[in-house]
Amino acid sequence: MRARIWIMLVLAVAVTSMSGCKKKDTTVKEPQTKPEAKEIKKMNANKESFGTMPDGKQVDLYTLTNTSGIRARITNFGAILVSLEVPDRNGNLADITLGFDKLDGYLGEHPYFGAIVGRYANRIGKAEFKLDGKVYKLAANNNENHLHGGIKGFDKQVWRLEDIGDTSEGAMVKLSYISEDGEEGYPGNLACSVIYTLTKDDKLKISYEAETDKKTVVNLTNHSYFNLAGQGSGDILGHVLTINADKYTVVDEGLIPTGENRPVKGTPMDFTTPMSIGSRIAQVEGGYDHNYVLKSGGGKLALAVTVSEPTSGRIMEIYTDQPGVQFYTGNFLDGSITGKAGKVYKKHYGFCLETQHFPDSPNKPDFPSVALRPGQKYTTETVHKFSTK
Ligand code: BGC
Repeated sequence: MRARIWIMLVLAVAVTSMSGCKKKDTTVKEPQTKPEAKEIKKMNANKESFGTMPDGKQVDLYTLTNTSGIRARITNFGAILVSLEVPDRNGNLADITLGFDKLDGYLGEHPYFGAIVGRYANRIGKAEFKLDGKVYKLAANNNENHLHGGIKGFDKQVWRLEDIGDTSEGAMVKLSYISEDGEEGYPGNLACSVIYTLTKDDKLKISYEAETDKKTVVNLTNHSYFNLAGQGSGDILGHVLTINADKYTVVDEGLIPTGENRPVKGTPMDFTTPMSIGSRIAQVEGGYDHNYVLKSGGGKLALAVTVSEPTSGRIMEIYTDQPGVQFYTGNFLDGSITGKAGKVYKKHYGFCLETQHFPDSPNKPDFPSVALRPGQKYTTETVHKFSTK
């Protein structure tokens, strides 16, 4: 017991001292009084209440804004990106992510709207994996498989506020969570943190870090559903998409990779040149729900995806250091969820582009490794860059 408390203390210190922001400061910073040259308005980061958990825990809502008018709202419940307002070609703002106005919506059943997903994003086949000869049994929450970290994954945890304020890059909020040894079946106490930064040059940067005290597996992502025409405004089939990948991981009927990485060339999976999402979706059984093998190979920040929406002119580019991206077209949305501003979310009303390691990597020795050992630091970054045309 003493040893366990000690480990937790060490991990808590580790997570609070993780790099990214120079100093820990949980106070909300006032806008600076001396504006930098050419800057009209100031960056801002703000904290307010988002409600109360059934056990009485207070949940916050953080708002990050920049001078272009972009506004990102994040809660420490599930480290969820609650909303993201971005201007169209005429400067009109719209919220481009699906979700809920209130905490209550997120406490109910929903398909990971805006959430940070972990300890392992996407599926692990038969809800088990072997590490150094030992079998670890995970929670099976997707038929016989394990999905998005299990029954109570990182998306359903209350994260701790580590820092909020302005940096030279923009407005940021840093949240942390300690996933205990054995949680959902995973080995090792894992101390992780996520930093959302809304930059002065219209990027939403999501940076993750994690450290463990026992060898484990990690794969963290953000599960936002986007509609660049505005959330709830219709389906996303008219969006034009480019994915810098010429292969995808072939899956079985349970959506577990078979191990084959198949070329996209000449198939409806090919987004190497700009194509509308809807142009060939009818030829893809069930709609798109596939992991693309990025040309960059991961390890360094590279342009993975460009998506544009013709009526609003909004463009989103996604840069990541991850080797894969799950392209999911909201195939399971069926009109049963009413989200923000009373909008009903029907099939294909949002798409996800979850930057990640490949599904079922813990059971696929040929896939890039997802193992994390004590003494190593897991770091990864994904950047969403906004513009218009
Ligand atoms: C998965 C889908 C799943 C969705 C919501 C996506 O990441 O690939 O199969 O339905 O998340 O859980």
